[in-house]
Amino acid sequence: MAERGMDLMTSGRSGRGSTATEPAVDRFPGAWTTDPTAPVIELDGVGKTYSSGAIEFEALRGIDLAIHQGEYVAIMGPSGSGKSTLMNILGCLDTLTVGEYRLAGENVGNLDEEDLAQIRNQRIGFVFQQFNLLPSLPSWRNVELPLVYGRVEKAERQRRAVAALERVGLADRVDNRPGELSGGQQQRVAVARALVGEPALILADEPTGNLDSVSTADVLALFDELHAQGRTIILITHELEVAQQASRIVWVRDGAIHSDSPSGRHGGPAAGAHEGSTR
Ligand SMILES: Nc1ncnc2c1ncn2[C@@H]1O[C@H](COP(=O)(O)OP(=O)(O)O)[C@@H](O)[C@H]1O
Ligand SMILES: [Mg+2]
Repeated sequence: MAERGMDLMTSGRSGRGSTATEPAVDRFPGAWTTDPTAPVIELDGVGKTYSSGAIEFEALRGIDLAIHQGEYVAIMGPSGSGKSTLMNILGCLDTLTVGEYRLAGENVGNLDEEDLAQIRNQRIGFVFQQFNLLPSLPSWRNVELPLVYGRVEKAERQRRAVAALERVGLADRVDNRPGELSGGQQQRVAVARALVGEPALILADEPTGNLDSVSTADVLALFDELHAQGRTIILITHELEVAQQASRIVWVRDGAIHSDSPSGRHGGPAAGAHEGSTR
């Protein structure tokens, strides 16, 4: 459990929530469906300042962003522009310094660590650049992990893990360990793990950053399918070609949103001059 993403996506950061207590009651019922016309994600004037000792660094400033259910949004920007900082806030992995984040109408700042752990575990599927698979476990055991923390019964976990692996085209790799799989296959295992809990929101941070072009196309095709099924996807990347797979591209530069416009894909209006359209 040393790997950051794995730990964060499956249990509470504080270490609470994974002890032998009763499963937390779902305190976020119907949170994604109460009003389908309202944004799932709303950031108002969000800023993030990192401080270490006397040194402060403003990684995000004045971020206003609304994302609706079923949108496929790429967050695009050069290295160091604040994309991962933004993803960590969106994924309830980190807290903001100023502003407000409402997730399905709920002010995230009002939720306690147990609520946040539950949201991360049950409502959000995370995909990271480094796959974050446990090397000693076969694919299906990696995929079932979020369900272990979600306290789903064993036979059901296995059934769902195998079904998720089938969905990503790895039915014949359920018993293989990560070391026996290609990078592209490992990332597909990670996508299966992100999907197994049927989350409404998929958050992917540079998911194709370690993949060759064929595997990149595979993973992006999977995201297309998930989008077609109505999932909300936020894809973080520094590669324009990858970002263009989404229907909307939000450009981040120096911690601020530089522009926000349709990519022209998925039936959206053609991209205009996104360099000009700041919001
Ligand atoms: N924990 C941290 N403490 C201090 N500075 C950080 C921390 N995390 C990120 N930063 C800084 O914030 C800026 C944005 O980082 P990041 O969000 O990781 O950018 P990106 O994902 O776009 O490459 C960078 O300058 C980075 O060095
Ligand atoms: Mg990053």
